[in-house]
Amino acid sequence: MTGRGASGAGPAALDSPITAPSHLHLSGHGTSLILDLPDDGPPRWQYWGPKLRDGTAPRHSAEHSLPTFSLEHPVPCSLMPGFGLGWFGPSGLRAHRQGQHFTQSFATTQVTKDEAGTTATIVLADTVAEIEITIKLCIDPRTDVLTISTALSNLGQAPLDVDWLAAAVIVLPPMAARVRAFGGRHAAEWQVTEDEIGGAQWHRATNEGMTSHTAFPGAIVLTRTADAHQGLAFGAQLAWSGNHQQTINRLDDFRCQWMLGEAFAPGEVRLAPHATLRAPDVLAAVSRDGVNGVATKFHAAIRARGPGLGRSPRPVHLNTWEAMYFGHELSQLISLADAAADLGVERFVLDDGWFNGRDHDRRGLGDWHADKVKYPDGLSPLVRHVTSLGMQFGLWVEPEMVNPDSDLYRAHPDWVLRVAGRPDATARHQLVLDLSRSDVTDHLFTVLSDLLQSESISYLKWDHNRALTAAGNAAGTASYRQQIHCAYALLDRLRAAFPDVEIEACAAGGGRIDAGISLRTHRFWPSDNLDALSRIPIQQGFLHFFPPERMGAHVGAAPAHATGRIQNIDFRAAVALQGHFGLELDPRQLTLSDRAALKRWISFYKAHRDILHADIRTGRADDGLVWHASGTADRWLLIVYRLSPPARAQAPRLPLPFAIRDADYELTLCHPHGGGALQRLGGDALAEIGITLPRMAAQSACIYLGTRA
Ligand code: DGJ
Repeated sequence: MTGRGASGAGPAALDSPITAPSHLHLSGHGTSLILDLPDDGPPRWQYWGPKLRDGTAPRHSAEHSLPTFSLEHPVPCSLMPGFGLGWFGPSGLRAHRQGQHFTQSFATTQVTKDEAGTTATIVLADTVAEIEITIKLCIDPRTDVLTISTALSNLGQAPLDVDWLAAAVIVLPPMAARVRAFGGRHAAEWQVTEDEIGGAQWHRATNEGMTSHTAFPGAIVLTRTADAHQGLAFGAQLAWSGNHQQTINRLDDFRCQWMLGEAFAPGEVRLAPHATLRAPDVLAAVSRDGVNGVATKFHAAIRARGPGLGRSPRPVHLNTWEAMYFGHELSQLISLADAAADLGVERFVLDDGWFNGRDHDRRGLGDWHADKVKYPDGLSPLVRHVTSLGMQFGLWVEPEMVNPDSDLYRAHPDWVLRVAGRPDATARHQLVLDLSRSDVTDHLFTVLSDLLQSESISYLKWDHNRALTAAGNAAGTASYRQQIHCAYALLDRLRAAFPDVEIEACAAGGGRIDAGISLRTHRFWPSDNLDALSRIPIQQGFLHFFPPERMGAHVGAAPAHATGRIQNIDFRAAVALQGHFGLELDPRQLTLSDRAALKRWISFYKAHRDILHADIRTGRADDGLVWHASGTADRWLLIVYRLSPPARAQAPRLPLPFAIRDADYELTLCHPHGGGALQRLGGDALAEIGITLPRMAAQSACIYLGTRA
């Protein structure tokens, strides 16, 4: 470890010769992060990008200019820019003590770096405001992803009101040009927007008390010439499932200040003396290989952070929701399970509709025991039947919620989040339980444990079907962030008690997909939209940040329940191959030929899931084509989707930028012809010229297996 003491010197004279500042250099296998460590303030972000050999970067010239009529000692952007003492851009912290101590400026009191040069901890202090901030920066040598962890401690004797604490302040070089972000709505998640980073502040946020469908807490920033496959790209994502915001600001020197953090409700964070506020981690990745390069690093980081995926490989699911909705009937479920097992399904998940009084979405949430009419002998007969067929049994729950029409609510009307004098705003006829109450979380832990102990349930689909509105706790103060921390604690407690049970995070489809909850859950449900055409952009959006094996991808019915559009079984299945494959339909309703086709697709998934869940690359091509490649350098699958009818007469060529130029590949067309002819092609030809695709109708797919010769 190397250490650095508190700085005593005042601000350096600006017209003094530029002396070599002291640097902090962290590196991963492909990334360097260089911070200046000036004597007169917190570290300054000097360089973050592809790895530099010797870890030095020229200082940015704008730091040395002194415009007329400006401060004698201008304050540059730093790792934690304070408020009111000369930094005029967005601050990393906004805090006060009942209106006092509203300015902050930090000195570096300690910098430590590990021997490997991958991790540093920086302690900043403001002795006037009596605040200490610790920022840990760690580039994981396995993944090359930088994790930034920020904590704020109140060293004073009075409480500190914190209005904003940046979880990370990242500075990007001037060539950062565009920001790609994601948002949408229920059944239309992960819609992409790309904005120029101009002079005005770029801002994305949500106050929905959950990660939200509206705004994903992360983005990809591209330089002017970067695209899916090449060019410098930067990514960051906040590991947090509650209110959040991110801003990008073009600085005077044309660099960009990117901040991500929680969005606090008024008065939500009042830090007691000597207490510490921990911001969520930020994961940040940089790549010269464009968007796919950043995504590959994020996938590695999400995999490395856990939880482990239990019994890999990912089993084929059947989820009962769109097959049954609330109309559960034991005999029907048994024959559905038979049909599923016959197709090769490996995990049967009983969705909403199984518990007390749950004949529709207006009743029953909170009463987590099997409905007596639908299941007179409890869930056991169904669980036994499913497991006797060799399938795992999964169960849907929505523990954080309650219907006013439920025994739980009638017994405990005071258990919900609300604000006195404000109406209880229901969404999907439900209210939100106040998880900051230990009686509530103890109750939930007990009922969920009872379920998991009494039946052979190895999987929970954990849903969360509404945004938070007036989220007041018993004290009448805002409890949005506490709600998330308590949900995390409940998940952690259950996982500790039932380490073999896997959990799927669902929130009305993709309303809670983030790197915070991904630490405690094994799979996400990205959308209730099963229409294969809609699903491709949703899945490709998801795959910017999370790996394919975490993405539930099901074959839905035709017509699709969400859109009414019809696609054939092959196209629907080929789209589901992008993720963790499953079914969201009633196989008994399929034609014989569709059933046979589905059986083949399930076998295909099982035979290839090792490479489907390895590294992936996605791309677009001209004339209505998108593609998805997965696997290793030696063996990969390429799935090409035709979305719209060809506008050109000639079959298009598709260059494969991921092909290794000096390798030779044997290509087999697996679909549509199944086991089609072998071709041998050089990697350079594949990358430069590409493969000639077969004729494809709109809404169809073709699949190649490439193996290194
Ligand atoms: C919303 C989920 O996204 C669906 O898959 C299903 O589980 C329903 N909730 C059940 O209410």
